[in-house]
Amino acid sequence: MSNGGVNEGRRRFLTAATCVVGGAGAVGVAVPFVGSWNPSARAKAAGAPVKYNLSKLEPGQMVTVEWRGKPVYVVRRTQEVLDDLPTIDGLLRDPNSTESVQPPYADNEVRSIKPEFLVLLGLCTHLGCAPMYRPEVGAADLGGADWKGGFFCPCHGSKFDLAGRVYKGVPAPINLEIPPYRFDSDAVITIGLDQEA
Ligand code: FES
Repeated sequence: MSNGGVNEGRRRFLTAATCVVGGAGAVGVAVPFVGSWNPSARAKAAGAPVKYNLSKLEPGQMVTVEWRGKPVYVVRRTQEVLDDLPTIDGLLRDPNSTESVQPPYADNEVRSIKPEFLVLLGLCTHLGCAPMYRPEVGAADLGGADWKGGFFCPCHGSKFDLAGRVYKGVPAPINLEIPPYRFDSDAVITIGLDQEA
């Protein structure tokens, strides 16, 4: 991981994350694994919905929230990220998410209820590894100028953009899955409950 000043993307993102060495030799961007305010560990294991307060997230930051024993990534996207999304449609396998899994209220260009906040399952659609958050625009190891930030799976090299959409030519067959979630208020989401129409 470069600490140099050449990476333009670092200016565009404020990550509160720290770097750690993960399993399988992967060096990743670690983010807080949030326990949240759910009623109890037993309820959580049984699949209880989990609340998360978005006001804690800085622009560009990602957190991982545990839901049903799975990692759910929550990213606060900047306007620059949202503007970049349509520019890479041609590099993606399923840019309109017609083959992919998302609730109807996230079946749109940005794959979310509110464009600013991306909520997706942090499980690669190839064989289920946890993709790493790689928000640095232009990262040389991920395609240089074609890389507008996204997620990289260290297991077999699948790449996804900042809407969880999979790139062409990688093992993952479809986009990262969007779980059910809803806004309880402007700042609080519940993962595991559907947004009402
Ligand atoms: S599990 Fe992600 S690329 Fe294979």
